[in-house]
Amino acid sequence: MDYEVLIRNATLVDGTGASRRTGGVAISGGRIELVGELNGARGRIEIDATGKVLAPGFIDVHTHDDRLLLSDPAMLPKLLQGVTTVVTGNCGISLTPSPPRIPPPLDLLDGSGQWYRFDTFGAYAAALADARPATNCVALIGHSTLRVRALERLDREATPAQVAAMRAELDAALGAGATGMSAGPAYAPAAAASTAELIEVARPLAAHRGIFTIHMRDENEGVLESIEETLAIGRALGVPVVISHHKVAGQKMHGRSVETIARIATAMRTQAVALDCYPYHASSTILIADAVRFASKVLVTWSRPHPELAGLELGLAAQRLGLSQDQAIDALQPAGAVYFVMDEADVQRILAFGPTMIGSDGLPHDPHPHPRLWGTFPRVLGHYARDLALFSLETAIHKMTGLSAARFGLAGRGVIRAGAIADLVIFDPATVCDAATFEHPTRPAGGIDTVIVAGQIAVTGGEPTGARVGKLVTGRVGIGDAAWAA
Ligand code: ZN
Ligand code: CU
Repeated sequence: MDYEVLIRNATLVDGTGASRRTGGVAISGGRIELVGELNGARGRIEIDATGKVLAPGFIDVHTHDDRLLLSDPAMLPKLLQGVTTVVTGNCGISLTPSPPRIPPPLDLLDGSGQWYRFDTFGAYAAALADARPATNCVALIGHSTLRVRALERLDREATPAQVAAMRAELDAALGAGATGMSAGPAYAPAAAASTAELIEVARPLAAHRGIFTIHMRDENEGVLESIEETLAIGRALGVPVVISHHKVAGQKMHGRSVETIARIATAMRTQAVALDCYPYHASSTILIADAVRFASKVLVTWSRPHPELAGLELGLAAQRLGLSQDQAIDALQPAGAVYFVMDEADVQRILAFGPTMIGSDGLPHDPHPHPRLWGTFPRVLGHYARDLALFSLETAIHKMTGLSAARFGLAGRGVIRAGAIADLVIFDPATVCDAATFEHPTRPAGGIDTVIVAGQIAVTGGEPTGARVGKLVTGRVGIGDAAWAA
């Protein structure tokens, strides 16, 4: 046999944004060895992909899968969408280094504290290797996690000694294979952190060629100021920054993505800034009164004291409890929610912006999660690219593969070419679709046929094979890199 796996007769979409062509790939030793004409090559396993698209495995650039990789290493919500790599530790929260207590939103990863047990990133990386997850992991360290670890009181600015402690822990984690730092000043644990604190904690990023991502301080009326803060952080650090799950939230802000996108586009001419987006007009996080007031509708996704109310509209949950809505928000705590806060036109404008990457922001431990957890990638391919023609299939795939790998500095991933790592997906472009809805949020997507991770077949005929060969992957980027020059 010449090769381990051959895929023939595919519609090849290579992740660079280039037009589709007909061809195949030959894989051995976890890498793509041949692309295009396979001539007389033979494989131990041969896959006929006639009528199907062959693309690089999708990269989910915004996840909260830190613990899912360990507690449920089959990674089905992601794998069954064609995702082969997840970026963890977003929005300021990471499972490591372990904090002494778990204030919200750290409980989105684990409310019990059982999984917040890795004192160092190295210990987490070792656990990840033991767990053998089905997808690869690119790990960020959360500023809020560092902060809960370093500060006794979170409602104030960190002292110079506390900043130094957080910085040293970030430095150690980056040295042990973490890819960057995330910040979440929108949330209580980091709301009192100044811009200067975020910059000083993140100082080690430049030397390690790490990336900075942020769930911005304000995605509502202060979103433009928050973009300025993000840009200032990037300039002060000399590192690339990623605006996470970009949105303009709240009815008063509808339409304002025209301005945010214009500002980001202008900034891109002079500094390294990226953004991601999920393809829904509802957001999801912990249940917070402040967020409820911006929403036209709120769904409860989980509640520790009232698990039976998960999935219900907040007003209805309040009725069941015999409480006012404000009282119910307190009674349900700790809890999570889905918030209908965006305008569909803004979502489409942000998704269609050329540099926007796709990230799910899925919350895998919510009993009644936002459907983005199971539906994001097929929804972009099926609903937005095919059905609404918001952009071409090639562009859709680029936004979830080649663009993402370039922005996060993931060498040898996100594109189909000879020598690249064989993370691949085969799907039917006519039927690919999301099936998860707000009512039935955990339905697997349709049309995803085969998923290959490092040359191993992890999904075939839409079913997982049990192959689990995902690894920790370290991204390295700098503001001078060619990937950022555009
Ligand atoms: Zn976030
Ligand atoms: Cu997030």
